[in-house]
Amino acid sequence: MNIRVEATRFDSLKTPFAVFPLTEEATSAIKLGKKTTLAPITKRVKACDFKGETGDTTLLYDPTPGMGRLLLVGLGKEKELTIEKYRRAGNTGVHHAKRARVQSLHVVAQPYAKVSEQEAAVALAEGLLLGGYDFDRYKTEEKEKRKPVKDATLVLGLLSTKIRDAVARAVIVCSNTLYVRDLMNESTSKMSTLDIAREAVRIGKKPLVRCKVYDEKALKKLKCNLLLGVGAGSKFPARMIVLDYVGNPGSKDTIALVGKGITFDSGGLNLKPTGYLETMRMDKGGAMTVLATIKCLAELKAKVNVVGVMGMAENMIGPGAQKPGDVVIGYAGKSVEIGNTDAEGRLVLGDCLAFVEKQYKPKAIVDLATLTGAVLVVLSEYGAGLVSTDDKLANALETAGTATGERVWRLPLYEEFLDDVKSDIADVRNVGHPKGYGGTVTAAAFLRKFVGETPWAHLDIAGTAWAEKPRHYIQRGATGYGVRLLVEWLTR
Ligand code: BES
Ligand code: MN
Ligand code: ZN
Repeated sequence: MNIRVEATRFDSLKTPFAVFPLTEEATSAIKLGKKTTLAPITKRVKACDFKGETGDTTLLYDPTPGMGRLLLVGLGKEKELTIEKYRRAGNTGVHHAKRARVQSLHVVAQPYAKVSEQEAAVALAEGLLLGGYDFDRYKTEEKEKRKPVKDATLVLGLLSTKIRDAVARAVIVCSNTLYVRDLMNESTSKMSTLDIAREAVRIGKKPLVRCKVYDEKALKKLKCNLLLGVGAGSKFPARMIVLDYVGNPGSKDTIALVGKGITFDSGGLNLKPTGYLETMRMDKGGAMTVLATIKCLAELKAKVNVVGVMGMAENMIGPGAQKPGDVVIGYAGKSVEIGNTDAEGRLVLGDCLAFVEKQYKPKAIVDLATLTGAVLVVLSEYGAGLVSTDDKLANALETAGTATGERVWRLPLYEEFLDDVKSDIADVRNVGHPKGYGGTVTAAAFLRKFVGETPWAHLDIAGTAWAEKPRHYIQRGATGYGVRLLVEWLTR
């Protein structure tokens, strides 16, 4: 979808379809005849049942002769107004347009209360772009009915370079969110460890980005045996991909992002049952978010240094597959008892975390992983679990989460969780409490063993990376969660 911005007088709009976000207060002012600035719709709003409650919609035909269809979208009470409501309003607009088979629409970026015209424009653009997504590349029938919205024009009272830049930035960030959705929704047959390495090499050709792919031989030399062990049952070899973005060459400081990249998680010999296998191509969500975030920073020409490390493997059953009870020594030199081959993410991350800390000495490390089913028990699909050794880092991520609507919720890192991952025969074991208690936090405790003094935060995105149930601007399937969050945190 192309997004444009335009300074147009609302009453001069001539469009096949326009969207107008309206609060309850503004609606009632119009109804009481107190608000005359919206002359073209005043009369019609007065006459209709629309009250401006959150999510309310009504469609007006030609409120002024020749104007076209005007969709009013309720934003609720001004006191309760949030930027997220504008995102949802943008999504509502794009869905109504699609249903009306309209491929070009105008959206009025109307500021209210504490939401500025710029914030309104950016949030509406986000709602349009994210809400307009449809993974339809395999739909060959009824193409006519699935026509996407092609052009959206944001209509503002006054247009500044600042607003233009902010919208252009949102377009880049959202396109990278959709890029993650595509990578994760796609069939595994097209998204092997090797396919993704190729994709990373392509991104590595962008200015200021460098890509390095570690193959089996290189990984063996580095003693990344935890990563290799997870991939040992697959016909696709494990890879560690490093994408290094140097947007601020004057500084030596860098931030590290680490992503779990399991192209398919069958569980390994601790095989997952039917009902749990079907969506496990999403288990590379952390790595795909890291990949897209580096790509996004490069496209934004952000003045930051960020190194992204992706641990790629396919967790399968095969003659070479690792087995429960095995002991493996990885990059960090710690011995790990494999208690369960389905707790593979923490193994992959163990090597990647230790590697990036030692090789890059980053100022902070943030890892993202679809790590535990337990985080779904805590936060459902609506928030990511955050575990951190550093309050400042955790707070910064929480702030970025609130700003973007990609929420995080901090969980503790008690000493007892570290006791739970102790092993009788090795330094550490990849499963925690014998009854499976504290699945998310014991997984985090395992990761903790592979990071030294560097401020570290872990985001468990097993719930947020994939939607079983569509909501607002998120369709069923991959959500692209994390790109907007990380870019916000890294660039503000
Ligand atoms: N990839 C899964 C976690 C997951 C579950 C992601 C559901 C998305 C939806 C992970 O590798 C896993 O299998 N975790 C196990 C760990 C257990 C064996 C200790 C889990 O959470 O059950
Ligand atoms: Mn697993
Ligand atoms: Zn997994």
